[in-house]
Amino acid sequence: MLKAAKPEPVALFICVTCQQADARPGALLYRRLEDMLNGRAVRLYPVECMSICKRPCTVAVSSPGKWSYIIGGIDEAVDAPALLDYLDAYAASESGTPPLKKRPAVIRRGTIARLPPHTHKESYAAS
Ligand code: FES
Repeated sequence: MLKAAKPEPVALFICVTCQQADARPGALLYRRLEDMLNGRAVRLYPVECMSICKRPCTVAVSSPGKWSYIIGGIDEAVDAPALLDYLDAYAASESGTPPLKKRPAVIRRGTIARLPPHTHKESYAAS
């Protein structure tokens, strides 16, 4: 009997070099989330700058075959639970685009960009 393939973990890239006042909020968020993942299929990746330095702290969510999102303005002190809720909704979404009502306010407000998956195909006819 074949075993079902285990889904790839969701990748959460966190800028650990963002600076705000005297702190590095992304580095604090990284450490906070390490303690909060609680068995979730999420892999954390520290990143040194994602070129969105004016919107600390900055994260990116990605998974094979799904849309990727770049999100800024995460307050590491209060937004970690909302970010985890979003990661759960993202993981449950086949395309990586959970419905807006499943995206916490900090995610809706902080979304900077989304990028299509490598497998994305769309036709376009310029008029
Ligand atoms: S230092 Fe964090 S995005 Fe540039």
